[in-house]
Amino acid sequence: MKRQLRVGLVGYGFMGRAHSNAYRQVNRFFDLETEPVLKAACARDEAKLRAFADRFGWETIETDWRRLVERQDIDAIDIGSPNNTHREIALAAAAAGKIVLCEKPLAMNGDEAREMTAAVEGAGVPNFVWFNYRRVSAISLAKQVVDEGRIGRPFHYRAQYLQDWTISPELELGGPTLWRLDAEVAGAGVSGDLVAHSVDTALWLNGPLASVTGMTEIFVKERPVQGEPGRRKVVTIDDACQFMGRFANGSLALFESTRYARGRKNYNTLELNGEWASVYFDLEDPHRLQFYDHGDADHLHGWRSIHVTGFEHPYMKQWWVPGCTIGYEHTFTNALADFLKGMETGELAHPTFRDALRTQLVLDAVLESARTGRWVDVAQE
Ligand SMILES: NC(=O)c1ccc[n+]([C@@H]2O[C@H](COP(=O)([O-])OP(=O)(O)OC[C@H]3O[C@@H](n4cnc5c(N)ncnc54)[C@H](O)[C@@H]3O)[C@@H](O)[C@H]2O)c1
Repeated sequence: MKRQLRVGLVGYGFMGRAHSNAYRQVNRFFDLETEPVLKAACARDEAKLRAFADRFGWETIETDWRRLVERQDIDAIDIGSPNNTHREIALAAAAAGKIVLCEKPLAMNGDEAREMTAAVEGAGVPNFVWFNYRRVSAISLAKQVVDEGRIGRPFHYRAQYLQDWTISPELELGGPTLWRLDAEVAGAGVSGDLVAHSVDTALWLNGPLASVTGMTEIFVKERPVQGEPGRRKVVTIDDACQFMGRFANGSLALFESTRYARGRKNYNTLELNGEWASVYFDLEDPHRLQFYDHGDADHLHGWRSIHVTGFEHPYMKQWWVPGCTIGYEHTFTNALADFLKGMETGELAHPTFRDALRTQLVLDAVLESARTGRWVDVAQE
């Protein structure tokens, strides 16, 4: 008999679907002592929620997250709703002694993230943030390469996260998905949405960022409001955000993110250049890790493109046979497997709320620098 983890999920959108799929698949592919039970799904629109719950097999529904958090038959609250809901739900869940899983960015800003981290740690409840890109097999392999000491002294870390879906000035603001364009709901623009991913991966691969200087831009200054014909709202999220910085290990950082790079859909790249070797990853070619090794014989120097689908590669032996690829949704299943395993062993999987707080503090520093035009030291937790 497996130990049951009874889950209450908030949100049935993009992430609600990704998480539900992970809960359903994880025991089919990973050997775990724990089995998630899809106890209740929660959102405000009852009809849409019911259809979602039926499709993914959630046992019951709740239309108020407060009810969900109060339920005695639920062990874990999984927050997959927009950013402005994370804090209140996480604080209530921690106070009720629930395990808390939360989507990224953890919070609207560093102060909220600090409060949330103190709450889960104070309550002593397991916690986790769904920065799923750590669980792309090729990115996990990059981490392995770094941990094995193959890169040598790091000199440069470079990341881009580029999309192109908000270029039209007629795109409305607010409502499903488009809450991302409303600072009151999203907190920030691409910095919280996209740069957060890049920073989480960077801190994981290359350690803490010490100081940053950045700039942001709003290309479309005003947008129509979804569901309110005739009303327009001034846009205050960052449409683009770029910054450079210094890592604590002495290497230099360069980050760029935008939703105005025509032709780039989910172009999430990273490159780390060290004394002995470099790694490069591009999410639009997700099965490959590129690796350059200065230790190769001189006449064989060149970038290798490693097809990360072998049994020896992170997570891959859980899936198909070598050469067969996996996809976006598997990153969530891999992440959930690590989280459950962490609870079983008592060694919590990362990123925890505290890890995500560190990312949030980098974002705060970048936005402060963009406002003031100065270099800003990243605040300590
Ligand atoms: N890990 C990733 O790569 C990734 C990708 C996309 C989104 N996200 C994050 O996931 C979260 C949700 O994003 P999404 O793309 O799924 O959004 P979405 O618009 O697709 O879905 C949001 C859901 O939250 C529900 N909701 C909104 N307010 C609510 C409330 N007060 N109570 C209960 N339910 C409420 C909506 O009904 C909807 O079901 C955000 O924090 C976002 O940043 C993470």
